[in-house]
Amino acid sequence: MKTKRVTVVGAGNVGATAARAFAEMNCVQEVVLLDVVEGVPQGKALDIQESASLRRFDTTVTGTNDYADTANSMVTVITAGVARKPGMSRDDLLEINAKIVSEVTKSILEYSPNTIFIVVSNPVDIMTQLVRQVSRLPKQQIMGMAGVLDTARFQTFVAEEVGCSYQDVVGMVLGGHGDQMVPLLRLCTAGGVPVRELIAPKRLQEIVTRTQKGGAEIVSYLKTGSAFFAPGVSVAEMARAVVTDSKRVMPCVAALQGEFGISGIMMGVPCVLGVEGVEKILDFELDEEERALMETSAASIRKNIEFIQDYR
Ligand code: 2OP
Repeated sequence: MKTKRVTVVGAGNVGATAARAFAEMNCVQEVVLLDVVEGVPQGKALDIQESASLRRFDTTVTGTNDYADTANSMVTVITAGVARKPGMSRDDLLEINAKIVSEVTKSILEYSPNTIFIVVSNPVDIMTQLVRQVSRLPKQQIMGMAGVLDTARFQTFVAEEVGCSYQDVVGMVLGGHGDQMVPLLRLCTAGGVPVRELIAPKRLQEIVTRTQKGGAEIVSYLKTGSAFFAPGVSVAEMARAVVTDSKRVMPCVAALQGEFGISGIMMGVPCVLGVEGVEKILDFELDEEERALMETSAASIRKNIEFIQDYR
């Protein structure tokens, strides 16, 4: 029987965290951690494997520099690329990461021609579109990780403001993975109670701003890199939804063809995730302010599309 395999490309902080989180989910036979640097994926994979008896998982974790070891991956997570430094925007990474992500996509497809890609490399909205362009796979097989992370941050800040369990805040952050992301205050609840009934408008706006700057806040502390614990777990949850065909609803970067009144780009929207990938986009009526915010977010992505036109 074919090995149920998931590949994580890039054994840096995000990739290694994702591989570990996914291995502990015990939902596939093998996680392959690949990197171009000799020894790094092998060492980190062995280190994760050695936690198996303690963390009670039976997933095999394989580190490699050889794409042949990734063959027939159900899901491929791309974290390869450089991370931000303080003062940099995600868009500043566009040129260098486009080259890396394009090459990774082609190398993976040689061995897993029908894989489902989950892109993490930044700027993720554009990188996800690049993978779709280079892979030429059906749109449901390409998604990007952003909204799960941004929503997790948003829910964290709301829970702390309300003074309730982190587990009881349900929110949704849509749009681009940048300063124009759109936390939907109207739909956020704490245990079912609308947060607009619990938190003053000025404070809510401060939480929205902190969410939009959430990545930069971590970078300002770390100085030499960006967040990886929450991003790693976020992408592992998306991969789990796909390999277990769970039909979870998660905000993902997905191809828009009229949903929310937007076409021709990939951006964060609520998606039903299953074994086919993005199986459905849950389109719904936005209010006037939300629609304007989503359009602004879309415009911030559209301006960068020209930079990836030549990648095929
Ligand atoms: C973040 O928001 C790395 O883009 C990622 O932290």
